[in-house]
Amino acid sequence: MRIYAISDLHTDFRENRAALERAGLAGHRDDALIVAGDVADNEAVLRDTLEWLAGRFAEVFFVPGNHELWVRGEQRDSMEKFRSVLRVCDQAGVRTEPARVGGAWVVPLFSWYHEEFDVRGEAVEEELEAWSDRYFCKWPPAIRRVDEAFLRMNEPRVHAYDAPVITFSHFVPRPDLVPSVHRLSFKGLALVAGSAGIEAQIRRIQPRVHVFGHTHIPSDQVIDGVRYVQNYFVRTSPDPLKLVWTSGEAELAAPMFC
Ligand SMILES: [Fe+2]
Ligand SMILES: [Fe+2]
Repeated sequence: MRIYAISDLHTDFRENRAALERAGLAGHRDDALIVAGDVADNEAVLRDTLEWLAGRFAEVFFVPGNHELWVRGEQRDSMEKFRSVLRVCDQAGVRTEPARVGGAWVVPLFSWYHEEFDVRGEAVEEELEAWSDRYFCKWPPAIRRVDEAFLRMNEPRVHAYDAPVITFSHFVPRPDLVPSVHRLSFKGLALVAGSAGIEAQIRRIQPRVHVFGHTHIPSDQVIDGVRYVQNYFVRTSPDPLKLVWTSGEAELAAPMFC
């Protein structure tokens, strides 16, 4: 089995949905796909896209991104929508809990961002005036830190596993995965990009690979023994998936005894 990664499909945009259809993604009936959030804020579009993907892969894994948790003109809050999105995944045959596939564990990590992630202190707060989450996300008053609320949900799955692990989150786990502000057009990014708590959970799990999304900035680098991959959907790409694991790697990584 091969495990592929992608994020930020944003199929709310018809052009993206059409590009996904064009890409076809045939030939993956024995493979798994990690989708690291931001498929659509509209639940019908989310369901349609997830069902389409689930029909092409043996296994599909997903965590909600910020777009999934938008509640525009709705009575419910973003946490209620989060639970509803998990039900949509369940009904579409998409996994949001850890599972062993092809000799590796895939472990979804729920997450959000916090402004403390801007450790360089160089992000421009004023740029967040146009940040949609400010207007479209609504949190229950009892939640003081949204990032911590999601990280707490992960705790039962944060432990050592009996096979190589691939973790994934929508948000960025390490500030050094966000370019410095002079290289960014959106100079408020570090304030809404990620949370150090994700990295703390990654270090406790000790995965081989961590897949993330959200910033729409590609990444594939090894830091302190973990390969950090972002492969956001590029609709002009004829081959939009990124291979992050093949079942042969488990044998290759195993100690040799003669
Ligand atoms: Fe996105
Ligand atoms: Fe996002």
